Amino acid sequence: MTQDMNPAAATRKSQLWSGQFGFIIAAIGSAVGLGNIWRFPGVAYSNGGGAFMIPYLFALITAGIPILFLDYVIGHRYQGSAPLAFRRIKSWLEPLGWFQVMICFFIALYYAVILAWAASFFVFSFSTAWGADPTDFFYNSFLQMPETPTVSIQPVPGVMIPLIIIWVVSIAVLALGVTKGVEKANIIFLPLLVVAFLILVVRAIFLPGALDGLNALFTPDFDALLKPEVWISAYSQIFFSLSIAFGIMITYASYRKRKANQTAPGLVVAFANSSFELLAGIGVFSVLGFMAAGQPFAEFSANSKITGPGLSFITFPKVISEMPGGWFFGALFFGSLLMAGFTSMISITQVVSSAFQDKFKMKPAKASITTGSVIAVISIVLFGTTTGMYVLDIVDNWANNIGIVLSAILMILGCFWVLRKQGEFAYHLSSLSTFKVGRIWSLLLTWLAPLLLGYMLVQVSVGILTNGYDGYPDWMVNVFGWGQTLVCVVGALVFTKLKWPFKPDDFQPWPVYVKEELR
Ligand code: ALA
Repeated sequence: MTQDMNPAAATRKSQLWSGQFGFIIAAIGSAVGLGNIWRFPGVAYSNGGGAFMIPYLFALITAGIPILFLDYVIGHRYQGSAPLAFRRIKSWLEPLGWFQVMICFFIALYYAVILAWAASFFVFSFSTAWGADPTDFFYNSFLQMPETPTVSIQPVPGVMIPLIIIWVVSIAVLALGVTKGVEKANIIFLPLLVVAFLILVVRAIFLPGALDGLNALFTPDFDALLKPEVWISAYSQIFFSLSIAFGIMITYASYRKRKANQTAPGLVVAFANSSFELLAGIGVFSVLGFMAAGQPFAEFSANSKITGPGLSFITFPKVISEMPGGWFFGALFFGSLLMAGFTSMISITQVVSSAFQDKFKMKPAKASITTGSVIAVISIVLFGTTTGMYVLDIVDNWANNIGIVLSAILMILGCFWVLRKQGEFAYHLSSLSTFKVGRIWSLLLTWLAPLLLGYMLVQVSVGILTNGYDGYPDWMVNVFGWGQTLVCVVGALVFTKLKWPFKPDDFQPWPVYVKEELR
């Protein structure tokens, strides 16, 4: 059977990106997400401010961009979703592909919930529905959260209804396929996001006190560079933010045409993602400076939520209430969060849908409805409840700091240490691209990245095993944290065991690599 006759190749042929532009827009849409808007500013501030740029850029250059290229080459060279692509590299690598699919499954569960919150707050902005006490509103009125971490199945209609809408729209976009669904959605939302966010940032930097916030963000604390956790934060930030090492970029790259420049778009995506991150930092800290209203910033930040959900759903509502015309600012902020998150959300769910299309010979519509409905139901039941936020925090931490990091290490060990694919992969990237990669790329990935990532994984795991996680009861950490990792591993093995509907290995990578040619 030739490559063109098998069903995976056929579904790919009918849903290629319309061209380089479509791919770049979708890849930027995937990268720019919640990680950029609500995670980066707080992470940068609490990890050395201006000095954080050093580990951040270091992580981007030594691991972010090299792994982005690795994802691209795996997806493009082996023309498949993560499980199929890994399977074609070597059959025993298939579980790694499914492991990445499982990570996306877990991330999708809660990513949609944050989008549901953003959608609600977008609507609330028009009437500043949070009233005089946004903290009370968010935790008590909106989420109806109990005081202590636990799990309940008590539904919260205010979260469930927008969550169902988010799921229906996401599944509909995926069902239309890559070209007509995913690409079109990105082409609509990404430009809108850029315009909305630019207006927001420009408005923010002209607020009184903005400069104090910017000084707080950018004043470097070089001592922070001596702390391992600062470097770990930089690496985690880059991985999540660039959407690398969890199947997304493998999947997206597999829908590219045969002759497609690989590395140059990668550099564009990385640059765009970091620029957006920096822009978000400037916007958010200008607003925080305004809110601090002359109070020393350290004091203000100690008493306010300046990262994660607290930043977006408590601190921003406070600012919106204080600003003249705040409703407009609020609509821009929550609208941006929603658009940025939505284009990332569809990339996360596409990983699962695409894997099912390949392994179970499903059409995009069937795969997205099947996988999307299952994830949606779990997401709604687990996170549309009064305790959703607690579970979300744990699931997010494990997916990011354990799952993705482990997946990156395994990719490198499998492809480079065991199979010695460096030469072949560099050949693929360079022969199709204007920006060539070679020895430096391969050395960074073979040696530096796994050592640093391995160190990071050990540090994080030992930290949790000795001190627990953020005060959560052990049983919750075991079920939603370590339990999640275990489910990813077991799921990966089970899906690998199922039979392919065609011969997945009957495939000739292109361009044909002849080892001797390189010597
Ligand atoms: N890259 C996406 C984000 O930053 C997942 O949120």
